[in-house]
Order: sequence, then C-alpha cells, then structure tokens
Amino acid sequence: MHFETEAIRTQSERTQFQEHSTPLFLTSSYVFEDAEEMRASFSEEKERNIYSRFTNPNTSEFVEKMAKMEGAQAGFAFATGMSAVFSTLAALLNSDDHIISARSIFGSTHSLFTKFFPKWNISHDYFKVDEVDKIESLITPKTKIIFAETPTNPGVDVLDLERLGEIAKKHQLILIIDNCFATPWLQNPIKFGADLVIHSATKLIDGQGRVLGGVTVGNAELIREIYLFSRNTGPALSPFNAWVLSKSLETLPVRLDKHCDNALKVAEFLETEPNAENIKYPFLKSHPQYKIAKKQMKKGGNVVSFEIKGGIEAGRKFINAIKLCSRSANLGDTRSIVTHPASTTHGRLSEEDRLEAGIKPGLVRVSVGLEHVDDIIADLQQALKLI
Ligand SMILES: Cc1ncc(COP(=O)(O)O)c(C=O)c1O
Repeated sequence: MHFETEAIRTQSERTQFQEHSTPLFLTSSYVFEDAEEMRASFSEEKERNIYSRFTNPNTSEFVEKMAKMEGAQAGFAFATGMSAVFSTLAALLNSDDHIISARSIFGSTHSLFTKFFPKWNISHDYFKVDEVDKIESLITPKTKIIFAETPTNPGVDVLDLERLGEIAKKHQLILIIDNCFATPWLQNPIKFGADLVIHSATKLIDGQGRVLGGVTVGNAELIREIYLFSRNTGPALSPFNAWVLSKSLETLPVRLDKHCDNALKVAEFLETEPNAENIKYPFLKSHPQYKIAKKQMKKGGNVVSFEIKGGIEAGRKFINAIKLCSRSANLGDTRSIVTHPASTTHGRLSEEDRLEAGIKPGLVRVSVGLEHVDDIIADLQQALKLI
C-alpha cells in the first residue's frame, strides 16, 4: 500500500472492545496462562509481550509504521533520539573499534564521539560534508561504522547517500544515517545502501513539540543486536510517547508537505534580504549540494539556515527582535522556531570547533512551522531590518 495509507492503517491488533483508534496500553507487564507459556515466551519460542522495557503494543505499532515507511526489515524505539544514537552504536561497537563520521553532526552526537566513546577506547575520524570521497583514506582495519546526518543540523548541508552507500558496501562497513531532518516521507536512506536509519522522533515525527522519542530501523540482524542490548540496558520509549508518536505519523505526509512549502518560501525571501547571506535550503538552486538533494529527497525539509551580516552580536540582536517565532532550541514543531547556535546550542564549543562544524558566528537556524507563511516572513523581515 501507499505510504500515506500505511501511516494511517498500520495498527496493533484490536482488543475485545473493537476500538477504532489504537488505545493506550499503559501497563508495565503482561500476564501468562501458565508456567509453560511463560517459559516459551521468555525463551522466545512464542512471540508475545512480556514486559514494556522490551515490547508493548503501542511501541510495536510505532516501530512497525516507522520500519514500513523507511523500507526497513525491523526496528526498536527509544526514549529519545540520543538514546537511539547511543544504544545503536554501543550495541554494535566493541572496544578498539573505529567510526568514520561526517563532521557536521548534532552536538550531542559529537560529544559522544569526542568525550564518552574514548572511555571505551572507541575512536573516530571526521570527514567534511563535501569530502565524502576522502572517507576511503580514513578507513583502517578497526573501522566498523560510517555515520552521517543529512541534511545536517544546524548547517543544512546535504551528503550524497548513494556515494556513502557505495563506499560502505565496498569496504563492508555498517552505514548509519540520522534521517531526523528529512523524515521517511522525504528521504529513505536504505534505498541508497544505509544499513540502519536513526530518528529523533522528538522533531518532525511528533511535529507538535509534545514528546521525546527516538527510533532505529534497518537490517534485521543488526536490529536484533540492538534489541538485545536495549532489552538489558533499558532505554525504551514509554508506551504513552509511542501512542502519541504513532498518531502523529498518521499526519506526517500532509504536515511535511506544508512545512516544506513554507520553508522554501522563507528561503526564497531570505535570498532577497540584504542583511542575510549564505542562505542554505536543500531545494534552493544556490545550495552547494542542490543536485544531490534533488536526487535523494522528495522535498527540502523544514529547516533553513542563513548568516546574519555582523556576526555574533548581530545574531543576538536578530533573535531578540523576533516577535512571532519562538526562541527555542527545538525544531520540527508546528510553531516556527529561531535558534542562534553560536550563542546557545553550540556556545560551549571553542570558536575553532564551531567553525570546523560549519557554525559561523552569525549562523541562524529557522525551523519553519505551519503558521501562515506571510506571517513568518513578516516576522523575520522586521527583525532583519532592526540589526
Ligand atoms: C539530527 C539530530 N539527531 C539527534 C538528535 C537528538 O534527539 P533528542 O533530542 O530526541 O535526543 C537531534 C536533536 O536535536 C538532532 O537534531
């Protein structure tokens, strides 16, 4: 069936009440007929719910939808996007392994690679988003995983998924893509050779700024390892959040189409503004990786980045002058959000590290929401005039 139909009609089995919409299964555990059923369930001879740390009807429904939408064999849902990133990597890596990652990645993923993984002797090397072909020179006998986000947060750069897929296959490495900015409606990395796809469901999957969540989908054998690790370490998504997220997926295509239409108009407006430069939106012809974006994405997503002329001070002034959009660190909400990474989310990084990650002092990230686009543009315009 089509994506939109799967998003709505994938449903856990109805109970005796024959409810139309999936109810919330707020239960921590499940009961068994007898000792034999218990034994068979624990030994996995019988597939059924045992304990909500590993399975729950709401979580299973959410995972099944996400797997179908991404064209994946299986999946596992997590409490947050970061628990999905951490648990996926921790489940697959051993001490002494090596990761190759794009340098432009979400700040906490960068911290994982630089501050925490070294504790377990897991090392990494970075490549720049426009230097995918350098990956091969970074591969060592210890390399196990290639990791990337596309589009990237916050710079909205685009990486060539097809090329990443070819390199990973040639060297038998596991390719993991954080698909948070695109969602499965706009881009399916598995089609291009990704083994695993990770989402922070907190963003566009929920789309309404209510709950935290994460999910990893992909190759069944790898998911099995991730499942076993997570079953024992406990980063599971709560049934309530799974219920919210599964409902949210029903409207993902319609929400996303509108988000993308609004974002493209905002990006086109910014290109006409004298105080804004280096406007980045995947579906703007001026985007450095426009052709790649067109090849692998259905639409450009909802995030636009640009640089304010005048650096960090002008960036702060702009944020203070905003009236309608929210000053917040989240993205992918119905409400438009502006963020100035250099003074907030990436404020603790050294100037050098920020520049390495493509975060210039005047960089602004706009998560374009679902308000009337003229109102969003009017707000950005009045703030840009004041700097
Ligand atoms: C690309 C990307 N990956 C992962 C995360 C982490 O997600 P969460 O905040 O749900 O832990 C974020 C959060 O902003 C993100 O933007």
